[in-house]
Amino acid sequence: MDYMDSEYFSYKNNELYCENIPLKELSKLYGTPLYVYSKNFMRDRYSEFTSAFESVNHKIFFAAKSNFNLNVMKLFYDLGSGIDVNSVGELYRALKIGADPKRMLLTGVGKTKDEIKLGLEHDVLMIKAESLEEVYQINKIAGEMGKVAPVAIRVNPDVDPQTHPYISTGLAENKFGIDSSKALEMFLECSSLSNVNLCGIDMHIGSQITSLDPYVEAVIKMTELTKKIISRGIKIEHFDIGGGFGIKYLNEVPFTPAELADALIPIFKQLDCEIFFEPGRFLTANGGALITEVLYTKSNNAKNFIVVDAAMTDLLRPSIYKAYHHIQPVEKNMEEEIVADVVGPVCESGDFLGKDRTITGCKANDLLAVMSAGAYGMVMASNYNARRRPPEVIVDKDKIFLARSRETFEHLLYDEKIIDELHA
Ligand SMILES: Cc1ncc(COP(=O)(O)O)c(C=O)c1O
Repeated sequence: MDYMDSEYFSYKNNELYCENIPLKELSKLYGTPLYVYSKNFMRDRYSEFTSAFESVNHKIFFAAKSNFNLNVMKLFYDLGSGIDVNSVGELYRALKIGADPKRMLLTGVGKTKDEIKLGLEHDVLMIKAESLEEVYQINKIAGEMGKVAPVAIRVNPDVDPQTHPYISTGLAENKFGIDSSKALEMFLECSSLSNVNLCGIDMHIGSQITSLDPYVEAVIKMTELTKKIISRGIKIEHFDIGGGFGIKYLNEVPFTPAELADALIPIFKQLDCEIFFEPGRFLTANGGALITEVLYTKSNNAKNFIVVDAAMTDLLRPSIYKAYHHIQPVEKNMEEEIVADVVGPVCESGDFLGKDRTITGCKANDLLAVMSAGAYGMVMASNYNARRRPPEVIVDKDKIFLARSRETFEHLLYDEKIIDELHA
């Protein structure tokens, strides 16, 4: 089998390490399932991205939805990143790390009145609106609060990002943003609102995009539109191209930030705008692994199964997107390879981490690492089957930090109680 190996997750004497720490040691300390993140992966990816664009006036807003562990958010924030928050829950988390709201973007296709109000109360840098009705709503709420809301409008450039349909967002058929053919008209209409300062234009065409073409096509379309909007007297200061920059889960050959910069900077230079980026997955995915222990192995007719202690409740992506996460042993052994489904304990056929995987034969108590799990992993974890969500550990060279403990049974109950009158 192929092993995914990098300077952050690598085999030393047949044992898989995160930076300088054997994953086996972490599983002894914290049990399994367990999320492990490499601090230096995240730091290096951030530097790689920001240095690629150093010749243009730009800002990075880490997409908190990809991994909102407080320490992960703080790591990027301390490196100079802003934070793209997609709900007031993420805003709350960002405030908890002491982030300045002036370094936050409030995103989301369906913000409630309370969310808009909270964004305005905290004076976030920009609220991104996704419909004409939403701009009017923001204007009304800002008026009631005696404020002028800084707003960007998300335009749907109608390009095919060539990615999984569930993570494609920039096609005309998707629910996101406003139709590009109506955008100029809408900017003109909204520019006259007295409690809105229309200062940005925004797009986000999808996620896990590995080809440059959709970005080039979308950015050209958006640049032409922005020029028209500016020529009508509207001062667009921020041009936000969203996130979506793809990574290698297996055989993908994604573009590098330097290649993206080469393709886009000449287009950006046609505008006098500050460029915003909202990367999530690129900064975190390959900096994380989910460590799981084999519980049982079995064969049913033609199929082999490896039953592990991690489930769709810990890593949902395989179940909902049929997403591929490479699964490899924490300790390489000389066993023969088998083809097996790696499945979890949850009572759903959709509960699998990998199907038909060629994997070295493993037995109960062996450990497996589910790779590329640093993005859209823990953030999508749930308590289905009353499972406790796993802990998260961050490794920095030879230091280990428990960034979040495993949930307890008390966490599962939170404020739930037996109401005596109901059962009287
Ligand atoms: C508006 C917006 N920005 C940024 C992102 C981050 O995307 P990615 O993690 O693919 O970079 C997303 C993801 O869905 C998004 O919806």
